[in-house]
Order: sequence, then structure tokens, then C-alpha cells
Amino acid sequence: MFSSLGTSGLQVSRVGLGLWPIAGMTTLETIESESLATIEAAVAGGINFFDTAFCYGVDGISERLLGKAVAPIRDQVVIATKCGVHWAEDLSRVNDASPERLQFEFQTSLARLNTDYVDLLYLHSPDRVTPIEDSARALARFLESGQARAIGISNATVEEVRRFHAVCPLAAIQPRYNMFQRDIESDLIPWAQAENVAIVSYWPLMKGLLAGKIRRDHVFDPQDKRLSYPIFQPPQWDRAQNLLDDLEEIANSLQLTIAQLVVAWTLAQPGITATLCGAKRPWQIAETLAAMRTTLSPIDLARINMAIAKNLT
Ligand SMILES: NC(=O)c1ccc[n+]([C@@H]2O[C@H](COP(=O)([O-])OP(=O)(O)OC[C@H]3O[C@@H](n4cnc5c(N)ncnc54)[C@H](OP(=O)(O)O)[C@@H]3O)[C@@H](O)[C@H]2O)c1
Repeated sequence: MFSSLGTSGLQVSRVGLGLWPIAGMTTLETIESESLATIEAAVAGGINFFDTAFCYGVDGISERLLGKAVAPIRDQVVIATKCGVHWAEDLSRVNDASPERLQFEFQTSLARLNTDYVDLLYLHSPDRVTPIEDSARALARFLESGQARAIGISNATVEEVRRFHAVCPLAAIQPRYNMFQRDIESDLIPWAQAENVAIVSYWPLMKGLLAGKIRRDHVFDPQDKRLSYPIFQPPQWDRAQNLLDDLEEIANSLQLTIAQLVVAWTLAQPGITATLCGAKRPWQIAETLAAMRTTLSPIDLARINMAIAKNLT
């Protein structure tokens, strides 16, 4: 149920709670009491790994809620946050990984989280202007000061990861990874395995699509930002629904839900250390975290892989 985060000495639950949904920027109907209850349900279910970021929500609502929820158990949880991405006044995304900006964001994050250290601090994204070595040196200083116990990087190419790691030792990489998006299998995963760096993947549920409750007859709220992703539009949408039909049959035969089958499949892939399941309601994370305790047999995995190959290639 737990894995080592590279050579950092940190032990993390293999399902981490992703705290983007409670930020409410793309998710509808977020309610503070439900968000706090979601974090509590994760802890109660055995999760110790929480993933947030400076930019999750207007004025850091995600970090603030996490800080509030885990204050009484701070030393029992692994808090991961990220710096290097913020929102402009018009809420457009700005990647700024300059050392000055990273310093400002990280100190702000510590205050919002109500803590004097984070366990894992990621560079949220290289910014394509700042030399990545400069960003790496800035994060290395937080490691040396003890304000960050381990360092990670997200949304980076293997070349960027290599350059960063040469300056600042990485404990973890956070790329997207799910049944539809598997590009890291050919580059980042082999690199991370060779270097003993953890892979903490995001989007295992592809923003809820692979949770299996958004089916052909789903009527999307026009405010639902997921509609902008190609996977929620034809022709990808139809292929995804056909895959879900097959996954449902396999999940039923194993007395699992589709979400549990999908997360268990993700955790069974070589090189995946942990995966981040987003949730904004307690029942959602209670469902997905059960996958930490589910081991799929080689036959089950072969059936799932055949379904993926049939529908997605
Ligand atoms: N490093 C990065 O750049 C980056 C980017 C993206 C994500 N992340 C991290 O990865 C985490 C996961 O990504 P995500 O939250 O965007 O997407 P996700 O985990 O793929 O999907 C989360 C969504 O799935 C739905 N869901 C969850 N459990 C469910 C269940 N049991 N049954 C039905 N629906 C369920 C919820 O949608 P509803 O709104 O329909 O309830 C929830 O908002 C994030 O929270 C964040 O921590 C990092």
C-alpha cells in the first residue's frame, strides 16, 4: 500500500489524493465542508499523500483547505505542492519558473499550508524562458534550508528532467498517465527506473471519464470545462465509451467498480510509484483508494490490455 519516494526516505500511499477538484476552478459545486470531509475520508482510508499547488484555486484555496484539514496530523502526512505556475488577472495561466517567482510562491504556499516545511516540492512546469538549471538551483536551496524535504518536477520532457536532476537531485517526477495517454512509457519511465526516481502520475481517471459514471447518455452542464478536452468529444469520446463497456464487464467479474479497476491497472504498470486520484466528495476517494489494496492477476491485466488494444489502437 506504500512505496518509497525515490531515495528521499519518504513513504507514500500508492494512491494520493489530488486536490485540484476542491480548488473549484474547473469543477462544479465545490463545497468547503465536502472538501474537508474528502481529505478526512482519504486519511481514514489510509492515504497519507496529498497533492496540491500554488495555483490550485483563486488565492490558494486548495492549499488553505489542506493546511486546515491536516494541521492536527501534520507529521503523519506527506504534503506535496508545486510552484512555477500562477494565474494572471484575467485567469489565464502563466508559467514563470524564475528563481524570484519560485521563492515568492513557495513562501506563500508555506503560509497557506500553515506549516514550516513541505515534504515534496515540485517545479510545476519549466517555463521555456528561464534556464532549467536556474529553476533547479532555486529549488535546491529550499532542500538545503530544510523547507522542502524532497524535490520533484512536473510536465517536463526527459531532457529537461535530466538537466534538472544534474543540478538538484529529484525524488519524483509527476507526469500525466492513463489508459489514453501513455507516452511516458517510452522515455520518462525507463529514465526514472534507471535513476531510482519515483513516478507519481496524474489523471489516472482522465478527469472522471475513466471513473465510469460519465456514459453515452451523460448530459454535460455547459459550464463543465471537461468539454474542452478532445477525449470528451467525438471521435475519441465514442472509442472511450466502447472501452468503458469492456472495462465494465471485467470490473463486474472481479466485483470491482470501473474506477477501482482503472486505478488498480495504473498501479500495476511498471515504474508507477503512486497515482493521484482527484476527488471533491468523500465517497469518490473512498471508492478509488480501495484500488491500493487490489492486486490484479496477470490474466486480469491481460484482459484489460486486450480491451485497451481493441478500442484505442
Ligand atoms: N502536475 C500537473 O500539472 C497536474 C495536472 C493535473 C492534475 N494534477 C494532479 O493530479 C490530480 C488528479 O487529476 P484530476 O483531479 O484533474 O483528475 P482525475 O483524478 O483524473 O479525475 C478527478 C475527477 O474524477 C471524478 N471522480 C473521482 N472519483 C470518482 C468516483 N469514484 N466516481 C466518479 N467520479 C469520480 C471527479 O469528477 P466530478 O467533478 O465529476 O465529481 C473528480 O473531479 C489533481 O487533483 C492534481 O493533484 C497535476
